[in-house]
Amino acid sequence: MKIAIIGTGYVGLTTAVVFAYLNHDVAAVDKDERKLNLLHEGRSPIHEPGIQSLLEEVQHAIRFTPSVTEVVPEAELILIAVGTPPKKNGEADTQHVVQAAKEVAQVCLPDRHYTLVVKSTVPIGTNQRVVEVVEEVFSERGIQGNISIASNPEFLQEGLALQGAFYPDRIVVGANSDKAIDTLRRLYKPILEQTFDPPSEFPRPASYHLPPMMTTDPNSAEMIKYAANTFLALKISFINEIAGLCEKAEADVTEVARGIGLDARIGNRFLQAGLGWGGSCYPKDTAALLRVAAQSGYEMPITEAARTVNFRQRKRVVEKLHSTLGTLKGKTIGILGLAFKPNTDDIREAPALDIVRELIAAGATVQAHDPIAIANARLALNENAETDNDKLFFTEDVYELSYDADALVLVTEWELYHKLELRRLAKQMKTPILIDGRNVFSPEEARAAGFHYIGVGRP
Ligand code: UGA
Repeated sequence: MKIAIIGTGYVGLTTAVVFAYLNHDVAAVDKDERKLNLLHEGRSPIHEPGIQSLLEEVQHAIRFTPSVTEVVPEAELILIAVGTPPKKNGEADTQHVVQAAKEVAQVCLPDRHYTLVVKSTVPIGTNQRVVEVVEEVFSERGIQGNISIASNPEFLQEGLALQGAFYPDRIVVGANSDKAIDTLRRLYKPILEQTFDPPSEFPRPASYHLPPMMTTDPNSAEMIKYAANTFLALKISFINEIAGLCEKAEADVTEVARGIGLDARIGNRFLQAGLGWGGSCYPKDTAALLRVAAQSGYEMPITEAARTVNFRQRKRVVEKLHSTLGTLKGKTIGILGLAFKPNTDDIREAPALDIVRELIAAGATVQAHDPIAIANARLALNENAETDNDKLFFTEDVYELSYDADALVLVTEWELYHKLELRRLAKQMKTPILIDGRNVFSPEEARAAGFHYIGVGRP
């Protein structure tokens, strides 16, 4: 199938590469010259495990262009995967989605049928707005036009994006037209039936079952995306709230999570207590959902509380440092991990940024390490002059962090941190305090290595 994808961010590029791998004929459009230059050189502008090699493998089936006009007229299906960044009031800004829909409608051929699919995460009612925009453009052009519009929300996790695209739990399609549903069913056929040969880096999991394609109306599909993210966000906030009480009650939240997770109704995933969620999705989508609710005069206290608990986790780390070190003025704190989660260089809404800012505001000096996110973090922290440059240092040598440090804080659970030589780190420190913000280390081992160990929700 000939498909055009508008936007080459995490969602757009992953989708483009996967569909090219599945033998569709893919054209991806982006206006960002920097990204296009990289893509033309065969290099991925995003860091995502496996994407670079897959991009090289599917070069023959994919092309990148800044021009909608060049690729949309001949496409059968067009996917919109542009960003919907938050406005100041939390609302998701859909202007890029609307603009992309206009551009598509402007170049569609009047005698052909197209399926236009919105993959971006958008507030409820946006697909309806896209229908109206397309009709407005058609009437300006004086043509009838023949487009079916569908919502097909994306459930990819950064760091696991390709795995999730080849082996999804489900595919959700919201459409009022059978034609759109049929086209999407053909698009996803190799995934729905798992008829493709798995790429060597992404073998099919032994326990994997064929995914259902759920069809529904567009508003419900849009709501499914927000509800799924909000539910996962509040599951994490729930265990973090329990973790706080475990600290008071001398219980161990990792044991509690294990015990409740064994109940099939609860399930054991997304119950890792720690520094809570960051990234471009949960913070943005919970805020956007609250805006949608506010616009309808509806209160969502559970969603509000999930956010409050989440952002409190970041403050609690600084409080723990205060209570062990006394003042933070003149103290040196080492930060292990800057990315919002492992296997990505994405630092959007990362807990580390807030923690670094708070520590510097309290008079501490910060030394930070991350295997790949230093460049992005440096930009985010220095760009707005929010931090004093003399107080913030980055290092690519993780052991350098501990020299004369007063405490270490593990913020992102990178695999390499699991294997750190704790004894060596502790020996180099002024005071061997380890705040384990993701419960990565065994408290017994950390203590045996000489650390004063403080996890999240562990006695
Ligand atoms: C999330 C959803 O998982 C995807 O299904 C969705 O498609 C995506 O948002 C999106 O809307 O685009 P993502 O934000 O990439 O994906 O990452 P997650 O793996 O869900 O993790 C989000 C945050 O939760 C991370 O900061 C992680 O450290 C934190 N987390 C996760 C916990 O604190 N505890 C857990 O048990 C799990």
